[in-house]
Amino acid sequence: MLPSVLQVLLAAVVIASPPRPASQVHLALTNAVQNCENGVAVSFASETPHQYQINYKPIESAQTLNVTTRPSESYGLSRGRYSYKSPYLHSGFMCNLLPNTAYQYEIVGGGKSFQFLTPPATGSDAITVLSVVGDPGDTTDSSATLEMLATPYKGMHPHALIVAGDYSYANGEHEVWDRWFNLQEVVFGHVPTLGINGNHETVVANGHAAPRPKAWDMVGENYLGYLQRILTPISNENKAKRRTYYSFDIGLVHLVFLDDYVGSSGSTWNSVGSKPWLNERTKQLTWLVQDLEHVNRTATPWVVVIKHNPFYNTWRDHQCQCSKTRFHIDDSDRERCWEGRYVSGSSMYEPHCGLQAKLEPIYAEYGVDVVMTGHVHGYERTAPIYQNKINEERGTVYITTGAGGNYEGHAGPRIPGPIPEWSRAVNNKVYGASKVIATKDYLEILWFTNTNSKTPFDSIILPVRIPTSPFEQSSKKVKRGYYKFRLLGIQEY
Ligand SMILES: [Fe+2]
Repeated sequence: MLPSVLQVLLAAVVIASPPRPASQVHLALTNAVQNCENGVAVSFASETPHQYQINYKPIESAQTLNVTTRPSESYGLSRGRYSYKSPYLHSGFMCNLLPNTAYQYEIVGGGKSFQFLTPPATGSDAITVLSVVGDPGDTTDSSATLEMLATPYKGMHPHALIVAGDYSYANGEHEVWDRWFNLQEVVFGHVPTLGINGNHETVVANGHAAPRPKAWDMVGENYLGYLQRILTPISNENKAKRRTYYSFDIGLVHLVFLDDYVGSSGSTWNSVGSKPWLNERTKQLTWLVQDLEHVNRTATPWVVVIKHNPFYNTWRDHQCQCSKTRFHIDDSDRERCWEGRYVSGSSMYEPHCGLQAKLEPIYAEYGVDVVMTGHVHGYERTAPIYQNKINEERGTVYITTGAGGNYEGHAGPRIPGPIPEWSRAVNNKVYGASKVIATKDYLEILWFTNTNSKTPFDSIILPVRIPTSPFEQSSKKVKRGYYKFRLLGIQEY
């Protein structure tokens, strides 16, 4: 098809433009929701709103393709002594890319070029490699963690870098987002990302590094910086309603991103237990069931949930309790817990506690293999658990990987009293993060310190679950209650 006159004129304007430096370059995986299947979007900032041309091609190819960035956006806010206006934020979508292929790209006139690797096609048997980090922040430790995650392990490059919330710790100080994306460009410019918001993108205020009293006028972000800057496959309607949960297939893995703060309104306290808060949490729960019902376990044998807050966590930080026994939620307490009240009856400060009341049975029913979180600034890996007991048939492995290296320091100490037997590995001495290696037969989950990308500190291998019911033979015939698995045995190190 011949290009339209308008496209030709636009391309001429773009090419003829003087250099306009691009900053904060970062990549994200895209899908059909963004009209860009099997795609990677390059996002960046500049001082002018004009569109850019992105040149890209497989490294081995002689033919260069190009795309023009979508219209740029800028946002601002002002309250009391604090005001902010963002640079112009651009995104160019490179769509229908070849699977498992190394590409190079250039922001024409922006002075930036990088290479990246695309994920394997969903449905192929190719190994999928994911890097996962929570709570990275903006210190030299967090930079070391991200560089470790971008480094190949046994020759395997990561296909995506997943952030389990608390990205920059801007806390309403939006200049921190700008500094953070510049700091991380060295990694995010060449490893595509996905992620989900944490409390620092939603309810935490008063800035990260700004002097007082100006910082007192900075409000909780209420998703503003996250939605403007983090590119995820969420519809505009869902963005407007602050519904940030979604799922994404990467190679052999069906990833589900859940928002622990769904229904919040930028405050830690005022929404918990309210009808709008409960309504939004119920909508997320309904969406989750529908999403899991449609997973094709032949194409994506592994289901991994990414959310910010851990429930099975033996560090003292961010504990919550809904029944008299820690980590157990009695059936008689389930509704009260879901509605946002602790066993004490007081309103919930840590919202994941209430979510667990209804998420855990769903995880078991649909065979969620792993839940990976941040929030707690340490590492912890559990055995497969169902309702506070090791259960290899119905259980889910919980990984806390929030030791990205942010300025708040390490987690700890651990909870008083005996440590549950399901807690199998911990670290609060060294910063680090996780890698996930998925094959058709097993899922390996590793945790590395940020000073050693070659030898993992800890790892576990989960064999693929074997169906025990004839109803599982075709995913379309699966009925709730019949979808059970038997694990063949788990290797721990
Ligand atoms: Fe957090």
